[in-house]
Amino acid sequence: MTDRTDKTAVQTADKNRVVIFDTTLRDGEQSPGATMTHAEKLEIAGLLDDMGVDIIEAGFPIASEGDFNAVSEISKQAKNAVICGLARANLKDIDRCWEAVKHARRPRIHTFIGTSELHRAIPNLSMDEMADRIHETVTHARNLCDNVQWSPMDATRTEWDYLCRVVEIAIKAGATTINIPDTVGYTAPLESADLIRRLINTVPGADDVIFATHCHNDLGMATANSLAAVEGGARQIECTINGLGERAGNTALEEVVMAMKVRHDIMPYSTGIDTTKIMNISRRVAAVSGFAVQFNKAIVGKNAFAHESGIHQDGMLKNAETFEIMCPEDVGLSGTSLPLGKHSGRAALRAKLKDLGIEMGENQLKDVFVRFKDLADRKKEVYDEDILALVSTTGEGEDHLELINLKVVCGTGPAEAVLEMDVGGVETSATCQGDGPVDATFKAVRTIYPNDARLQLYQVSAVTEGTDAQATVSVRLEEDGMIATGQSADTDTVVASALAYIHALNRLRVRREKSGKDTPEVSYKDLT
Ligand code: KIV
Ligand code: ZN
Repeated sequence: MTDRTDKTAVQTADKNRVVIFDTTLRDGEQSPGATMTHAEKLEIAGLLDDMGVDIIEAGFPIASEGDFNAVSEISKQAKNAVICGLARANLKDIDRCWEAVKHARRPRIHTFIGTSELHRAIPNLSMDEMADRIHETVTHARNLCDNVQWSPMDATRTEWDYLCRVVEIAIKAGATTINIPDTVGYTAPLESADLIRRLINTVPGADDVIFATHCHNDLGMATANSLAAVEGGARQIECTINGLGERAGNTALEEVVMAMKVRHDIMPYSTGIDTTKIMNISRRVAAVSGFAVQFNKAIVGKNAFAHESGIHQDGMLKNAETFEIMCPEDVGLSGTSLPLGKHSGRAALRAKLKDLGIEMGENQLKDVFVRFKDLADRKKEVYDEDILALVSTTGEGEDHLELINLKVVCGTGPAEAVLEMDVGGVETSATCQGDGPVDATFKAVRTIYPNDARLQLYQVSAVTEGTDAQATVSVRLEEDGMIATGQSADTDTVVASALAYIHALNRLRVRREKSGKDTPEVSYKDLT
């Protein structure tokens, strides 16, 4: 029998140590519209590694050249984390995955197949045929890499006897981690705990592997189901930052980690996560994915630590514990940060960025500084949130479309926008009327740069309080199945909207030029 010791996995000598497996860059990025650029994926992977995530699922290497390159680069740059790639249950996928992750100091291959009756029907395999396929593919993966994770997709709706049979086959074939996905967010906490407990007690060899839980949030129970699975014996939680993911998303990393930390009295489990890094990575993921965090989201929402009502404020002033179960500092929120202003120089900005956990090269700093000065001229106090908005909307270099000037007249009558843009080095202008200033502006953009992109999302939010607050705008566009999100921030909401729209068009153009290379050629559900 092969040596099953998961040499590259984290130490599990401590029986209460829960391994954090982050899949923001795979399951999270798979969410329509959450697509990240190569540079953004590398940046997020670096932040995950720094915050102590044990395993980073960096992508799905066979899906596209872009995914393959991202997983390879992340594998090369990773300092501590295990780098994992996803592969369907076929030899070609697994080989491609290995090619990408083999550069990592600690690589992992994650292979999966849908085992429930509904999912078995997709590749049209009988139970026996699927069992053989599992044996063959896990064996192949294990011959390449000594750290192999196997997942029976839709496990929570798979017949119990069959689930036990295939888990046993995967363990015998050399899988070192068995992940039990609740693919459609169907299970509930008691059932989640029970399923893991029964598998561990029933399947021969279960003690030699780590059981993982992978929950989706369709019924709002992903966090509860993941924690319950840990009660049942799982020692790996799969999750994403901000709960990013398809449909209602995945389990939110910040929620499970903080739940185990704050309620250590009843959930005596530990993780390797530096929780003070949570806010920063949450903001970066929101910025690069274009998925803003809802204000009342647990742990990372804007209001999670806000105490507005008089009675709450009174209690807080007397004793913060009256209404606060965790300190804002524990998740990286500092209440005492001083705003910058128009007299602040480059050194002050650099120091502030460092404080916020943002590192950048001299060229990028130069660009951010110019925009900071411009903002400080218009806004008396520049807060941390303003700086973060500036950083997350910094351009990506040579853009085909650039805004030169925008003038809008609006009020009780129809709005009119006069727009000047640079299109590939040629200055062009257009004047359009519309139903409000944003509509008029977007029409002017389309007049200058005709396109068929469909507006999927237009979202505005104020960065800080006050009427001089910056507005951040997200625009998501779709064209021929390709999706791109643009973002911008400005004290003028219409200017921010124009910039976000232009940003999204630039990104869409880059994707089109790559002619589908960045668009998944295969989907993980496409099992035919
Ligand atoms: O939700 C799911 O089943 C997955 C698998 C690929 C693990 O994401
Ligand atoms: Zn999933």
